Amino acid sequence: MPVKIAPSLLAADFARLAEEVARVEAHVDLLHLDVMDGHFVPNLTFGMPVIESLRAVTDLYFDCHLMVTNPVSLFEPLAAAGANLVTVHIEVHPDPTAPAARAREHGLEFGLVLDPGTPFAAVEPFVELCDLLLVMSVHPGFGGQAFIPEVLPKLEAARKFVDSAGVRTDIQVDGGITPETARRARDAGADVFVAGTAIFRVPDPVAAIQRLRAAADGTE
Ligand code: DX5
Ligand code: ZN
Repeated sequence: MPVKIAPSLLAADFARLAEEVARVEAHVDLLHLDVMDGHFVPNLTFGMPVIESLRAVTDLYFDCHLMVTNPVSLFEPLAAAGANLVTVHIEVHPDPTAPAARAREHGLEFGLVLDPGTPFAAVEPFVELCDLLLVMSVHPGFGGQAFIPEVLPKLEAARKFVDSAGVRTDIQVDGGITPETARRARDAGADVFVAGTAIFRVPDPVAAIQRLRAAADGTE
């Protein structure tokens, strides 16, 4: 399975979003957009107007990580703004059957997210509904935190389940990703790597992406 790199725009310079996307777009597989509402998490980021403006400057696949109390209400406007996939926290919708169906009605792909403290068992009955499973490796809300290694067994459980069920669900890891932690997460079963600080807060984002990809691929 090829590795996918998803830069998180949360760590970019918000005064220069189009330039930040242009610097990385030829080197990455998708763009990770952290939508926070100041309620589900104690931070506030951006929503439809910013996503719509970004859609006008790039064809990258938009993966919208919804850290909000009412994600379903955003599906229709996000789809109109150009989102491709929405991920919903299982802590918000313990039975995500209806949200998954609503996302597809709006032409969106769908995924579920697990906080660091939430066990894989919470999403296990719903994996077939998911294009992507996101295992958080930090507590959601802020960039720049340290990777929590205790989530590695959860990545292993997710990989084992996805492979044995024969479903086509990507396994994404988000938070504190560096070449070193990407390698550990890859060994545990992740195939999509979100990184904010490690890409946008360094002098050479393209070199950083190449290092992350090589580390995750095991080719470095
Ligand atoms: C945190 C977000 C992450 C964040 C990762 O709530 O979900 O996507 O941007 O940032 P880094 O890579 O700095 O840990
Ligand atoms: Zn995220």
